[in-house]
Amino acid sequence: MRKITVAIDGPAGAGKSSAAKMAAARLRYLYIDTGAMYRAVTWAVLTERIDIDDAAAVKRLTDALQIRLEPGPHLCRVYVGETEVTETIRTPYVSSHVSSVAALAVVREKLVQLQREMAASGGVILDGRDIGTVVLPQADLKIYLTASVASRARRRFLEMHASGSTETLEAVQRSIAARDDMDSHRELSPLRRAEDAILIDNSELNLDETADVITDLIRARE
Ligand code: C5P
Repeated sequence: MRKITVAIDGPAGAGKSSAAKMAAARLRYLYIDTGAMYRAVTWAVLTERIDIDDAAAVKRLTDALQIRLEPGPHLCRVYVGETEVTETIRTPYVSSHVSSVAALAVVREKLVQLQREMAASGGVILDGRDIGTVVLPQADLKIYLTASVASRARRRFLEMHASGSTETLEAVQRSIAARDDMDSHRELSPLRRAEDAILIDNSELNLDETADVITDLIRARE
């Protein structure tokens, strides 16, 4: 049995990260959250107060950044240098800027290269927006995971509330819809389903059921 390379793409709040992490733990695959990498760069850009229209400054910062993902049982811990940013990168402030930073060529070039290096040994599940189309066009299995905007917003809202957020459901839905719009209409590597990606709409599935579908698809390709 050969461990394969899996690409999971889809819009914000479809549950890609949670389901991918669960499937990876069951199958002993490495899970790589590429959204966390874009969020980490965004956090650094905001912390350093870098003007995102200054491509040279963004490139200098991105090239110097040491981003580390440490997979854990519940959460993938994220570090920039020695600073842990796991929680900070999920705040509404970072979420509202991440799509603008992720649209920059200098950022994408660096992160795509890193992601390819991380995936090189196989036995990996990467989730993001452009994994099946750009990062790993030769992935053994491509999945496009989506759900209605209402169910995605509701899930994200419940998740955020559990960790103490006071955002309203309407605000969460607006933020998700705005991110979807920017991610799908940007010039570079827009979010789209690769032609050979298997479409899963999990509006009616819970997390366990979604992870079951993904796990079965991986097992069938091993
Ligand atoms: O997956 P998550 O919602 O954490 O991703 C945050 C943002 O990072 C997305 O809205 C998108 O703008 C960007 N992203 C991307 N390409 C990826 C992963 C994420 O552009 N492969």
